[in-house]
Amino acid sequence: MAVEQQVIIVTGAGGGMGKAIIQEQLAKGNIVVGLDLSVASLSDLAQDALQCFEVNVLQEEHVNEVFKQVFAKYGRIDGLVNALGIAQAATPIEQVSMDEWNRLMDVNVKSLFITTKAVVPYMKERQKGSIVTIASISAVRPRPGLQAYIASKGAAESFTRGLAIELAPFQLRVNTIHPGPADTQMLSQFTAQGADIEQTKQSVFVQSVPLGRLVDPSDIAGAVSYLLSDAASMVTGTTLHVDGGRGL
Ligand SMILES: NC(=O)c1ccc[n+]([C@@H]2O[C@H](COP(=O)([O-])OP(=O)(O)OC[C@H]3O[C@@H](n4cnc5c(N)ncnc54)[C@H](O)[C@@H]3O)[C@@H](O)[C@H]2O)c1
Repeated sequence: MAVEQQVIIVTGAGGGMGKAIIQEQLAKGNIVVGLDLSVASLSDLAQDALQCFEVNVLQEEHVNEVFKQVFAKYGRIDGLVNALGIAQAATPIEQVSMDEWNRLMDVNVKSLFITTKAVVPYMKERQKGSIVTIASISAVRPRPGLQAYIASKGAAESFTRGLAIELAPFQLRVNTIHPGPADTQMLSQFTAQGADIEQTKQSVFVQSVPLGRLVDPSDIAGAVSYLLSDAASMVTGTTLHVDGGRGL
């Protein structure tokens, strides 16, 4: 039996994980809609099944308009993957400005409210949908100096659980993934100002993973595929750790 083609929206589409998620969804034959501040990194994936929008996801009206267009065009939105995010450079709390706190909360948390609120009506209409949010293992296994980032990822996990119970009667599933330190450009942004990035990658990040390597974006793409699929049809409100054991 032919597998039905799904329509999947991915935020943070131009980032390390976002691109890997998109590649895997396209390989599965799905239609993918990618949103990011810049989608230049996706130019090599150009094909009819991929539609990209350069959008600041904090601009609610713009997001609503894109989702409306997607539903009008395809008549369905099966999955939303919230893969955007920003890092915090390790900083003692006394030196963290209110602007920096607000920026992290806006991008990492408010964006989830905006995209989820926008997609839920379309998913409710079809009584089917899966929402996956990329949070971070740091929410439960913190490192010093990342207090605002960690708080934002904890909020992402709680938001997921709150929505999972709210949306279960409509057959919508909502889950979180906690990646461990991952091999994308973001990793270097967690280091303290002035630190040697390559050295920190090995001595701090790789060392902290029991399975002995950084998470590859494809590891996250695989976990996303599972949570989007019918194989996970009884999985909701959960957090999947894809961290090589970092959370242990
Ligand atoms: N890399 C890691 O070590 C790591 C570990 C744990 C969790 N995470 C989380 O995984 C997710 C993906 O991270 P990544 O490693 O792919 O990082 P990345 O920096 O490669 O990608 C993040 C993307 O989000 C986009 N983005 C940021 N703000 C946006 C906005 N307002 N509107 C639209 N797009 C916006 C950026 O342009 C970027 O392309 C993030 O939520 C991150 O916090 C990353």
